[in-house]
Amino acid sequence: MLQINNISKSFHQRGIVLDNLNLEVKDGDSVSITGPSGSGKTTLLNIIGLLDKPDSGEILFRGEEVLKYNAEESAGYRNKNIGFVFQDHLLLPYLTVRENILLPLLAAKKKDDEYSESSAHADKLMENLGISGFANKYPHNISGGEAQRVTLVRALVNKPSILLADEPTGSLDKANADILGDLLLKMNRDFGISLVLATHSTGLAEKMAIQLNLIDGKLVGRSKIL
Ligand SMILES: Nc1ncnc2c1ncn2[C@@H]1O[C@H](COP(=O)(O)OP(=O)(O)O)[C@@H](O)[C@H]1O
Ligand SMILES: [Mg+2]
Repeated sequence: MLQINNISKSFHQRGIVLDNLNLEVKDGDSVSITGPSGSGKTTLLNIIGLLDKPDSGEILFRGEEVLKYNAEESAGYRNKNIGFVFQDHLLLPYLTVRENILLPLLAAKKKDDEYSESSAHADKLMENLGISGFANKYPHNISGGEAQRVTLVRALVNKPSILLADEPTGSLDKANADILGDLLLKMNRDFGISLVLATHSTGLAEKMAIQLNLIDGKLVGRSKIL
């Protein structure tokens, strides 16, 4: 589904962060990327999500080069195919949980019937992830663990093929981190969504079928399934 070929990225002062890096993500894969702080995990996820541009290399999504997209096409690609979960929940404080979750549907400019289908999908996801009970609450009235599950639903509401998660459990205690990790895997199993997650947590990383380490700008690793 996703092929990342020979991606390189440097920053002034820091120098080379990603060095001719390759990664292939197939439908239904779950991939963890670990590595020390500053090794380039966030940079890589941002490049995959077209939030940042590499200096060279190509990214093929279902065979199409996505790096040539203009801003509007990039936004369309993201909305349609990619879900993001970041370390901090980034929910809008003046919208309810349900309104936060439905926000990406507005961005995707759905037609009425598509909107109601997606909104039904959102309800199903909320039930699956155990957050239906506080759909009408505001973010400041729910816990950090609950808020992170809300962002997961929001990331999945447009039925992306791939979920990019950057330190998704980084600000959670162990109990909530375990819950979120299990829910990520459940989404992978039940909905076939591919996971690519950057994490410091070896516990979370080891739950993924493919475990990669970002070292000296390249990915090295092993796979549970090979
Ligand atoms: N926009 C930027 N400008 C300059 N340097 C950056 C920028 N983004 C990241 N870096 C540098 O690139 C390196 C990799 O950062 P990052 O991808 O955030 O690593 P990680 O997520 O693995 O901690 C770091 O040394 C960081 O300081
Ligand atoms: Mg990071």
